[in-house]
Amino acid sequence: MIYKHDVLVVGAGLAGMRAAIEANQHGVDVAIISKVYPVRSHSNAAQGGINAALGEGDSWESHAFDTVKGSDYLGDQDAIEILAREAPAAVLELEHWGVNFSRDERGYLGTRNFGGASQARTFFVADITGQAILQVMFEQLVRSRIKMYNEWFVTKLVVDNGRVKGLTAIELRTGQLHLIQAKAIIIATGGMGRVYEPSTNALINTGDGMAIAYRAGAKLMDMEMMQYHPTTLKGSGALITEGARGEGAYLLNSEGERFMKKYAPNKLELASRDVVSRAEQTEINEGRGVNGCVLLDCRHLGKELIMTKLSQIHELALDLAGVDITQEPVPVRPGFHYPMGGIKTDVDGRATLEGLYAAGEAACISVHGGNRLGANSLLDTVIFGRRAGRAAALAAKETPEPNLSDAPLADEEARIRALVNRPYKGELAAKVRWDMGVAMDKYAGVFRDQQGLDTLGDLLHELRDRYKNVHVGDKSRTFNTNLQSVLELDYMLDLALAVQVTASHRTESRGAHTRLDYPQRDDEHWLKHILLEYHPDGPKISYLPVTITRWQPQVRTY
Ligand code: FUM
Repeated sequence: MIYKHDVLVVGAGLAGMRAAIEANQHGVDVAIISKVYPVRSHSNAAQGGINAALGEGDSWESHAFDTVKGSDYLGDQDAIEILAREAPAAVLELEHWGVNFSRDERGYLGTRNFGGASQARTFFVADITGQAILQVMFEQLVRSRIKMYNEWFVTKLVVDNGRVKGLTAIELRTGQLHLIQAKAIIIATGGMGRVYEPSTNALINTGDGMAIAYRAGAKLMDMEMMQYHPTTLKGSGALITEGARGEGAYLLNSEGERFMKKYAPNKLELASRDVVSRAEQTEINEGRGVNGCVLLDCRHLGKELIMTKLSQIHELALDLAGVDITQEPVPVRPGFHYPMGGIKTDVDGRATLEGLYAAGEAACISVHGGNRLGANSLLDTVIFGRRAGRAAALAAKETPEPNLSDAPLADEEARIRALVNRPYKGELAAKVRWDMGVAMDKYAGVFRDQQGLDTLGDLLHELRDRYKNVHVGDKSRTFNTNLQSVLELDYMLDLALAVQVTASHRTESRGAHTRLDYPQRDDEHWLKHILLEYHPDGPKISYLPVTITRWQPQVRTY
């Protein structure tokens, strides 16, 4: 049986749900498919807040400029203008849907400071903002009666005559592979955090959507731009929200020095993430770290504030690092958090492949350019999720039925069967994945250079060879997470190589991409995006100019 829908959304985090709700409102038949139950999506993990210029004295222009500057001038300014202009209405819509945003002493929606922002414009729900929004969005999804394929794992996009017409997916409960046909498909599968180890991301963040789109012929953009969050917990890499610094926590080195004074004398700990991460890594590399970390001191905020506004990070630090942040500073280090790059789209989510759309962390519009500002990510999901949903629905109305045969299903079944039938040669997905993640962190992390990137390139080719022998030990069909992890690893290796290739190619330093061998930003040669197209012999590179509407590049200081 071939399932059929007008619009099919892959991924049920905030971007996917927002896209599905919007498409549904345009009167087309919409379905959403996700490898996890929607409320287990990684949007849950977003802590600190969502930005909007809603307050007195704030303006969308100020929000937009902060975002442009944060992006190190690589963000496309037409898209950034949309993000900042539409933010106030988007946040109010969430509030009207029922998100219980924290209030200030007057009872108005409260804001907190966040990195790189010239005003306190981050609206928040304690330090569980993503979770609060996700629950409310899910209510809207249920209310809309949109068909949900929960715990279905998408393996491939079906492309016919240059157009995306469907996908194949494993129903995890039964192990059965299905073909679902659609006039428009929106990829909203979130990030690729687990390509790096450690990472703030959930184990589900394996970049599947980006990778299947790339394999199908869609272009990726800005893949060298990988964000390290300045405060990730020692060991596990769990997120310790920037909201803590927004509330006044500060960073110390082993000498008890508030070292950000040297690197960002005006904004200190609330400089943009790339700046703070570089500063921390410099302190650690120069011997002023504490066991590979620096210290985040929250004690002076007081127990009451911590337990009301930062209770999740209190719990995380206690459970995962044995540190009570009301009593002692917590060891943190820069850790992988977010790809600024992803599936190249226009401001309505259209990818470079007909019939395909993308939104949220899987997409690159590019609003974040070289460095995303904290709390612009939740905003991106709702603004561009909505826009992609609308555009896909309108396009679907004009698109004839794809009328796929079941040949793509048979092909994909054969590919997966071959994988399951591989003989055991001692190679396990978990080991290859770990080796990849550690190498990515070492050679494509906060600081990079050509020698390290070349070493990484060699390692990734070795890992790709090792992947050919990765074994699927579990031959059963019901919830075969072993098979799923082997399929995910295939996608992750493609994305890791995409990062390595583009990071090697961009011979300048900009945003999160810091080349020790090319320490300056070079607007003359590199004020442009790098696009990547999948090719079996290796990725093909092309370029796109950055869209500048009103803000010419300036020297960037905080
Ligand atoms: O630090 C944080 O709360 C993360 C927020 C974000 O990545 O936008």
